[in-house]
Amino acid sequence: MTISCLGYLGLTTTKLDEWPTFSETVLGMMPVSAPDGELRYRIDDQAWRISITAGPEDDIAYAGYEAASTADFEDVKSRLTAMGIAFHNGDEHLKRKRQVTDLICFKDPQGTNIEVYYGPDLATEVPFTSPVGVKGFKTAQQGLGHIFLLSTEIPALRQFYMDALGFTLSDIIHMPLGTPESVDLEFYHCNKRHHTIGMAPVKLPRKLHHFMLETHNLDDVGYALDRARDNGIPVTMGLGKHTNDRMISFYVRSPGGFEVEFGYDGVAIDEHWRITRHTSASSWGHRRTE
Ligand code: FE2
Repeated sequence: MTISCLGYLGLTTTKLDEWPTFSETVLGMMPVSAPDGELRYRIDDQAWRISITAGPEDDIAYAGYEAASTADFEDVKSRLTAMGIAFHNGDEHLKRKRQVTDLICFKDPQGTNIEVYYGPDLATEVPFTSPVGVKGFKTAQQGLGHIFLLSTEIPALRQFYMDALGFTLSDIIHMPLGTPESVDLEFYHCNKRHHTIGMAPVKLPRKLHHFMLETHNLDDVGYALDRARDNGIPVTMGLGKHTNDRMISFYVRSPGGFEVEFGYDGVAIDEHWRITRHTSASSWGHRRTE
């Protein structure tokens, strides 16, 4: 065993002042206290899951992957050492800031800051309450959701996430896109969530295409879609169902640029899972609206 889930996500934005409306009123995340200049949100019992700070670009700043035990934590260190990937131990200041028992820090092949930690603070003494009534997000052993990365270095990225962090290929979407004629979207899991990481060989100014949050019911997806439209947030892809993880979802553009997928009913990986290939990303819907 290595990592068990995506535990927290740090984002930077050029439009921090627009994020509270987006993250609280549209997505329904719960704001919690944070250091000056930072916005932090809960989506479950964990003390925080998403952090947003002002920065020169709208992108992923760091991703925190959870090791469920100290043995798993040590296993990640052994893998990194064997692969010649340099890492350092998080100092006391960073442990306090991230609200974890211990962590290590290193970079993935395209320079994204990766942290592996164990022992996150929970805040069960204050129940998770969505400011707009979302009846909870699907997290627990499946982590906070998923991220989809764009990279021109897919072979190195693939090797890193599989060999260093222990991800397993779920499936591939072989998509005709015009130029180049086709691209393969690759999806990787580290728990029952169909994918915690997706990646595609696409060059954009940012590395993060989107992150995804999953609710427990269809109504919460529908209400969020209405709140996006009511608050003037661009819906980039309308409601649809993905071919591979079967998630019923829509996509919105966050302040500054990257997208957020908001969905429900993703398929769970089980012991009978087999790698398949699809030639379309969606069974129905997900029509581009911009
Ligand atoms: Fe997604």
